[in-house]
Amino acid sequence: VTADMKGLKTGKLRLAVVTTAKYFAPRLLGMFCQQYPGVEVSLKVSNRERVLERLAANQDDLYILGQPPEEADAVAEAFLENTLVVIAPAHHALAKKKKIPLARIAEEPFLLREPGSGTRMATERVFATQGLKLKVRMELGSNEAIKQAVIGGLGISVLSSHTLALDAPARQFVVLDVQGFPIRRHWYFAYPAGKQLSIVASTFVDYLRQASKYIGVVSAQEHGRPGRLVKKAE
Ligand code: PGA
Repeated sequence: VTADMKGLKTGKLRLAVVTTAKYFAPRLLGMFCQQYPGVEVSLKVSNRERVLERLAANQDDLYILGQPPEEADAVAEAFLENTLVVIAPAHHALAKKKKIPLARIAEEPFLLREPGSGTRMATERVFATQGLKLKVRMELGSNEAIKQAVIGGLGISVLSSHTLALDAPARQFVVLDVQGFPIRRHWYFAYPAGKQLSIVASTFVDYLRQASKYIGVVSAQEHGRPGRLVKKAE
């Protein structure tokens, strides 16, 4: 991109992303805005249900979520890996066990995200396909609250490994080795079908297609070492 080209990219970019995307979307935006300083960005963070409502009402330029919209008529494309892992407090009885059966996890007190959360949806689906029901100890409205509650010994949970990056309290919880985990998912960008993307939004889409090169994800092998970033294999 030449300096002239950069100058042409000015305008607004309105993004709405699901809560777990807040662990990487701002960094991606930072790099994007360095390339295109003329772009003014706004970022809305809410759960899957809210993001889908905003998409249906065409309130933003672009959406990021953990699964393509099923209900709405939308264009969606995967651009980054997203793995869900089982987390427990560091000294949990299952911390050193290998290949823990899913049924064993279903016996543990479980901390579940609020209704409308995509993380909750994906988690419940995995247990339901095995005919298992979670023993829900508590419902919590944020990934951060869940991490703190896990550390506090209230139960175990399933979260995206993106939530373990950066400011996660190191060595206070572990990723359990559970059969069927990690759940491998992807991040999708999406927009209403038939929508004409602005120049800025389509430039950002092209940038997202390269995103996995720029952004590290915490690998599920990094047991007990949250905060370590590894580069995604190409
Ligand atoms: P959530 O979405 O923040 O609504 O849990 C995450 C996802 O859809 O993977």
